[in-house]
Amino acid sequence: MILAIESSCDETAAAIVSDGYEVRSNIIASQIPVHRVYGGVVPELASRHHLQAIVPVVAEALEQAGVAFADLDAVAVAYGPGLVGSLLVGVSYAKALALALRLPLIAVHHWQGHLRAIAIEHQLAYPYLALVVSGSHSGLLRVEETGGQLLGCSRDDAAGEAFDKIARALDLPYPGGPEIERAGKHGDPRAVAFPRSWLPGSDDFSFSGLKTAVLEHLRRRGGAELKPQELADIAASAEEAICDVLSGKAVAAAQREGLPMIALVGGVAANGRLRRLLRQRAKQAGIGVVWPAPVYCTDNAAMIGAAALDQYTQGDFADLYLNAEPRV
Ligand code: KG4
Ligand code: ZN
Repeated sequence: MILAIESSCDETAAAIVSDGYEVRSNIIASQIPVHRVYGGVVPELASRHHLQAIVPVVAEALEQAGVAFADLDAVAVAYGPGLVGSLLVGVSYAKALALALRLPLIAVHHWQGHLRAIAIEHQLAYPYLALVVSGSHSGLLRVEETGGQLLGCSRDDAAGEAFDKIARALDLPYPGGPEIERAGKHGDPRAVAFPRSWLPGSDDFSFSGLKTAVLEHLRRRGGAELKPQELADIAASAEEAICDVLSGKAVAAAQREGLPMIALVGGVAANGRLRRLLRQRAKQAGIGVVWPAPVYCTDNAAMIGAAALDQYTQGDFADLYLNAEPRV
């Protein structure tokens, strides 16, 4: 039984995960209301709120799982990448707890957590393709039983970052992904022909041109307030441009690599349009698609526990010199 902790950005999370990737509890204290007024995460505020939340969040995770400290086999923590002040809270807490309880410490890379979130509800045969799309990372990986091979990643903004920046340009609150999805619900995805960076011959992504195109579109139409239908059309068109490229490139990579299954993971995997488009295109190519439940897409500690279970089995433990790594 593993206690897993995640504090890399603006969610303080703790989970109890047992053998077979069984999630016994998954507690998330979100700071969205704290940061919303600033239009994005304020690192100093984030670390202070993690400090306040970490003890009660862990207590709730234990209580909901009906587990005591004495029942634990290991303590796992996301050590990076992320905001250093935020990561430090989770890492320091996990190290202190592991030392006090004389338990092994497991250091989980945040992206490995997103990747292994799929194991909670799905048993996938290797090899498969993973499309990892979050606020800080967009990547395509060929996943083998022995590990992942990075085929391509974002050269500039991550997919979630693009959603967040475009939302900010449209005066929509943080986090931008769900806001764009909501705003674009009744919009026409073909209303504005925003550019797509296909980067032929590469599995990399690029979304900064799209962000610039949205800003340029807004500049050209002048400063008048957007009417609801116009906002809906721009949001739907921008969302379509991101989802078109992500799904098109993922299916092309899976076909080229001869991979029969795509796992869509990370915060942006919660997007309904991306899920539909990817499934539709993959189906035409005879490829399956799976994704985690929304709660396991955005940041959570259950995914850190899932990755930690693999590391526990492999005897991959950290020592008390473990540090928070903002870029790793
Ligand atoms: O994985 P995550 O929770 O944190 C990081 O590791 O970055 O991802 C957060 C990102 C944010 O950029 C957010 O706007 C995006 O995921 N996101 C979405 C949706 N829900 C969250 N993007 C598009 N549509 C959504 N429904
Ligand atoms: Zn994340």
